Amino acid sequence: MVSFKINGETVQARQGWTVLETARQHGVHIPTLCHHEAVEPSGACRLCVVEVVQGKWSKIVISCMYPVAEGIEILTDSPRVKNVRRWILEMLLAECPGSKEIRALAAEYGVSASRFAAHHPDEQCILCGLCVRVCKEVVGVSAISTIGRGVHKKIGSPYQGPAEACVACGSCVTVCPTGAMRARLDAVRGEPKVKLAHGAK
Ligand code: SF4
Ligand code: FES
Repeated sequence: MVSFKINGETVQARQGWTVLETARQHGVHIPTLCHHEAVEPSGACRLCVVEVVQGKWSKIVISCMYPVAEGIEILTDSPRVKNVRRWILEMLLAECPGSKEIRALAAEYGVSASRFAAHHPDEQCILCGLCVRVCKEVVGVSAISTIGRGVHKKIGSPYQGPAEACVACGSCVTVCPTGAMRARLDAVRGEPKVKLAHGAK
């Protein structure tokens, strides 16, 4: 077992656990968007930042991928953490101004507007990739993936038409933290009767 502190309280964790896993085990809240216990962490959204204090220095890390270590001290709500989290929320607001989930989360941290320019006022997706990872790692079909590059990057099915591999399970919609996948599922799964006809062959 590894022993360290979270917000001044001594906690125990198993070797190999992350700071986020340990915090959740001990009832300490750290906000996340791209994390889900069912899939491997990817560190995409950065919202789960915490401050690691070790002796005279400290640094900001993402708790969903940072491994626990003996004697470290973690601060989940320090002024530095709150400041970084607000910056991240401003960037997320600019990335997906159309998501009421992200607007509500930002409001919780006192962020109601962004200093960054929003290019697509209706966009809801933060490109966290959680839907893609669940489809691949849990459902095992990889019906969706990241398409395009740079500012044209988005989540969709091959050739942006109904994906033959899609089993219409809706797992992607369930895990999506912003509501973006709700509007995309119909396009990905196609007409239910087409799917049934295909499966009956
Ligand atoms: S659709 Fe949702 S889960 Fe998928 S990348 Fe976008 S925000 Fe993340
Ligand atoms: S939850 Fe850790 S980076 Fe998204």
